[in-house]
Amino acid sequence: RTVEWDPEEAGKSGYDHYMCKEINEQPRAIRNCLRGRISEIDASVSIDEIGDLARPERIQFVGCGTSYHASRYAARLFRRRGIPATAFYASEYDAGAVPVNEETLVVGVTQSGETADTLSAIRDANRCGAETLAVTNVVGSSASRETDHVMYIRAGPEISVAATKTFASQQVALLLLASTLAGDYSRSLVEALRALPDQIQSILDGSRASEITDVYARSDAYFFIGRGYGASVALEGALKLKEVTYKHAEGFPGGELKHGPLALVGDRTPVFAIVTGESATGKMLSNIKEVEARDAPVIAVTDSPSAVESIVDHVLRIPETHEQLTPILANVQLQLVAYWLAHRLGRSIDKPRNLAKSVTVE
Ligand code: G6P
Repeated sequence: RTVEWDPEEAGKSGYDHYMCKEINEQPRAIRNCLRGRISEIDASVSIDEIGDLARPERIQFVGCGTSYHASRYAARLFRRRGIPATAFYASEYDAGAVPVNEETLVVGVTQSGETADTLSAIRDANRCGAETLAVTNVVGSSASRETDHVMYIRAGPEISVAATKTFASQQVALLLLASTLAGDYSRSLVEALRALPDQIQSILDGSRASEITDVYARSDAYFFIGRGYGASVALEGALKLKEVTYKHAEGFPGGELKHGPLALVGDRTPVFAIVTGESATGKMLSNIKEVEARDAPVIAVTDSPSAVESIVDHVLRIPETHEQLTPILANVQLQLVAYWLAHRLGRSIDKPRNLAKSVTVE
C-alpha cells in the first residue's frame, strides 16, 4: 500500500523553510511508515509488498549520502539478528569481488529512487544474479522498477535538499525489514516503535538545540562521535551540519578519535557525543574525557543525563527507548542543531550551494 501525495502538503505551511517543516513532520511520517505493518494483537511485523521474500543467506546494502548512513544502521540491525550484512557506498560497490549469488539480497536504499550510483550498483547486483530490493520513497521511481521487490518508506514528499524525515523513515522501514526477514519480533521492540512518533514530538517540543548552537555559531569545526548504533548518527549529524551550514564537520566512531581526528580537537571545535545504550557506560565517557583534556566543549546527546551531566558542557536529551531506536531519536536533535546553526548563519537552507536533491550522474 502506498500513500497518495497531496500537492497541498508540498507548501511550507507557515515554517520558514522546508527543512524545518520536514523535521517537524517526522512523527507523522513514521506513523505512515508503520501503518498496517505492526500488529496490535501479537506484536508481529509484516510488510505486505515483500511478503514473498525469504530470509537471505547474506545481505548487502548500497546507498549514497544519508541513505548510506541508513544502510550502515541497517547492516548492524541484520548482523544483530544473525544475518551477515554489509553496507557499501553505492559508488564503491564491487559486485564482482564481494560474494553475490541468488542467496544474496542486495538492498538499494534511495529516497528518490533515482541516484545514479545506486542504480548502477543495483544493475550490477541484478547482473550477478542477486535478489534485489529497493527501499525508496518514490512510487514508480527507477529503483522501484529495476529491482525484484520494493518497500516504500511512505515519508511523503521531501523538498529540502538535505534529507531529514526520509532518513527517519528509512531507519524505521529498515528496522521493520530486519525484524520481518529474521522472523524476530520482540514485544518490547514493537511497543517502542509504537511510542516513537510521540517521543520524537517530545524532542521537537523541548529541544535546546537552538540555544546551544547559538553558543557555538563561530566555531572552526564541529565533530560528532558515537559508537555502535551511535556511529551512523555521528556520520549523519556531521553530514547534515556541513550540507546546510557550510562549516567543516566530521563524524566518526569514538574509537577512531585517537587515530587522527584528535590532532584537530581544541577549544574552537565543539564535539557532539552520542551517549546512548551500552555506550553510555565506559568507552564513550573516556572519549569525552579525551577531548575535554584538549579544551573542546562537549555536547552530549543522551538518554541518560545522569551519566554525563557532571562532565559535559551541555546535554541534548532524548527519551529512553529500545536500544535499536536510540539512533532515530538522537538524530532528531542533530537535525535541529544543523538547522538552527544554518538559520543563524543566514544560509540558503533548503537549497545549499553546489548540492542537488537527486544526483543523476555517476
Ligand atoms: C543527494 C542528496 C542527499 C541524499 C543523496 C542520496 O546527495 O542531497 O540528501 O542523501 O543524494 O539520495 P537518495 O535519493 O538516493 O536517497
